Amino acid sequence: MNYQWYPGHMTKAKRMMQENISLIDLVIELVDARIPLSSRNPDIDELGKNKSRLILLNKSDLADPEANRQWMDCFKERGFHVLEVNAKTGQGFRAIWPKVQEACKEKIERDRKRGIKNRPVRAIVVGIPNVGKSTFINSFAGKACAKTGNKPGVTKGKQWIRLNKDLELLDTPGILWPKFESEEVGKKLAMIGSMNDDILQMTELASELLAYLLEHYREALLARYQAAAEEEMTPLRMLELICENRKCYKKGQEPDYEKAAAILVDDFRNGRIGRITLEICEKGQEEEQK
Ligand code: G4P
Repeated sequence: MNYQWYPGHMTKAKRMMQENISLIDLVIELVDARIPLSSRNPDIDELGKNKSRLILLNKSDLADPEANRQWMDCFKERGFHVLEVNAKTGQGFRAIWPKVQEACKEKIERDRKRGIKNRPVRAIVVGIPNVGKSTFINSFAGKACAKTGNKPGVTKGKQWIRLNKDLELLDTPGILWPKFESEEVGKKLAMIGSMNDDILQMTELASELLAYLLEHYREALLARYQAAAEEEMTPLRMLELICENRKCYKKGQEPDYEKAAAILVDDFRNGRIGRITLEICEKGQEEEQK
């Protein structure tokens, strides 16, 4: 399968990001907790150097809780400030402001020493498409604005959203384009639904996903499709069992693998097989990807 995606927009997006980043103190980078590495574009490290950095493991509700903990440690070890969140429900948001203060300690201190008062921290939200940037901005800014009572002066302005007197958010997120440097990365992005399904071969994608699930989340997979464990369980055999369980047949009782594949992928993307993470944190992994 050839995974390619939106190549034409990349330079423009990067230029816009460069312009915006010069205005800000803090980069809030959203990654998908199910693939925290493949959903990052490492260019952000270059673009965001000399800025305070906060990584939000978003969609943490869909990811394996144990893996979330490991990824938190992993990013911390790499020098990032990091939090687990669910942009849809706002879970984890309460910890953001204290974390922002921690991440911007030096800037706040510098301002204080220079006698600069009331200069808020300015932040930008960045991430690859579909990672949850708009959901996050709406929900985070919505809550904070409600809290300050939408008073005059609490502008939901054109460019900056004033969250409180100490924090402003650029109202347009920065779009980073995923890096398709290896087929593995492309596959994982496809699995979580960050690519147009029209260009994907569903059965091939399902087969890759099944191979991973059989190895790492076998029980949850079998339970979802009420399948009994078999000694030699291959992805194809599992797909057959999904066909049986979901009555996916073409005319003449021929299994409809395409349909079963689409069901599986949709179940996975929506967390119906359980909370699943597709990549684990390994030392040196990020350096390899750069
Ligand atoms: P973007 O701006 O980065 O492109 O992403 P956007 O906010 O549009 O979010 C993409 C999808 O991800 C949306 O789903 C959104 O609801 C969902 N989402 C965002 N954050 C979270 C999260 O923390 N957990 C979960 N489970 N989902 C999240 P959608 O299918 O486009 O819309 P809808 O089904 O929510 O209506």
